[in-house]
Amino acid sequence: MAGAAGGLLAAAVSRAGGVGMIGVPSSPAEQWIDQQLEEVKSLSTPWGVGFMGWAVEDNPEPVEAFLSHGPAVVAISFGDPTRAAALAREAGALTAMQVGNTADLRRALQDDIDLVVCRGAEGGGHGRNEAGTLPLLQLAVSSTRKPVIAAGGIGTAHGVAAALAGGAQAVWVGTRFVTASEATGHRNIKVAINAAGLDDTVYTRAFDIAQQIPWAPEFGGRALANDFSDQWAHRIEELESVADEALRQRMVRARTEADVQMAPFYAGQAVAFSHEEQSAAQIMEDLAGYRAILADAARRFA
Ligand SMILES: Cc1cc2nc3c(=O)[nH]c(=O)nc-3n(C[C@H](O)[C@H](O)[C@H](O)COP(=O)(O)O)c2cc1C
Repeated sequence: MAGAAGGLLAAAVSRAGGVGMIGVPSSPAEQWIDQQLEEVKSLSTPWGVGFMGWAVEDNPEPVEAFLSHGPAVVAISFGDPTRAAALAREAGALTAMQVGNTADLRRALQDDIDLVVCRGAEGGGHGRNEAGTLPLLQLAVSSTRKPVIAAGGIGTAHGVAAALAGGAQAVWVGTRFVTASEATGHRNIKVAINAAGLDDTVYTRAFDIAQQIPWAPEFGGRALANDFSDQWAHRIEELESVADEALRQRMVRARTEADVQMAPFYAGQAVAFSHEEQSAAQIMEDLAGYRAILADAARRFA
């Protein structure tokens, strides 16, 4: 999760028994990469790193920088993963790709991807707004023997249990960790997400158009709805024609000031499940409740 999951959060998740993932922004500064690596490079537990595929297709330097410190998993999503996946494989990392429709799934079934991450439209941040997590998961587990990971809308132990019962080998959780104490991001973001409910997110390209970020049109983002998205989410063509440098600057300022009504606060429907700031270890402990839920289900339905 670029903007939320730096080395600190990834390390905390890894120490708590997960595989913490560093979310790399589209053009990371060298100094930023070094700072994140400082947090994870001496971990004795596995950690990983996720890239926006479109951003590393032509410039794999950030991939190489992380690979020299031994991530267990390298995720390349939302773009052609071929070049980055080859580098990751060569360095001995497992490769992962988030898939959001049948064509993505077909690509992820090629030999260079080890882990198929079914990322439903419920999820926070960028991705497709097509299939939901459960249909994608069912399709993937019936199509491959590769490990399948479920993502999108999973924020409680019951959600984890449902995904594992549905055939996932693991879950990939974003939104629930955006408000973790170790997550980066302004306090306003954490407060707003903790206060938000199931119906408070919107899937839109409006924020990217306003910021002139070159995401492909099929990858909008799910964020907290606010005044800006209320105004523009349903008038995308008009926004494209009026978006100018002044709007871009306003958006940059809004992000710096963490202006709740103007800036994008990326988060998915799992906002419904975070209510207070918790440490990553506490969140992991909450999610680990899936074991008791599955054991209970096994007793009831055996
Ligand atoms: C704040 C935020 C930032 C994200 N940034 C990235 C990113 O940089 N790269 C990426 O592959 N996915 C990113 N995602 C998407 C996640 O990898 C994942 O698909 C999503 O969080 C799963 O759904 P959930 O949010 O319901 O848990 C981001 C998600 C959030 C909430």
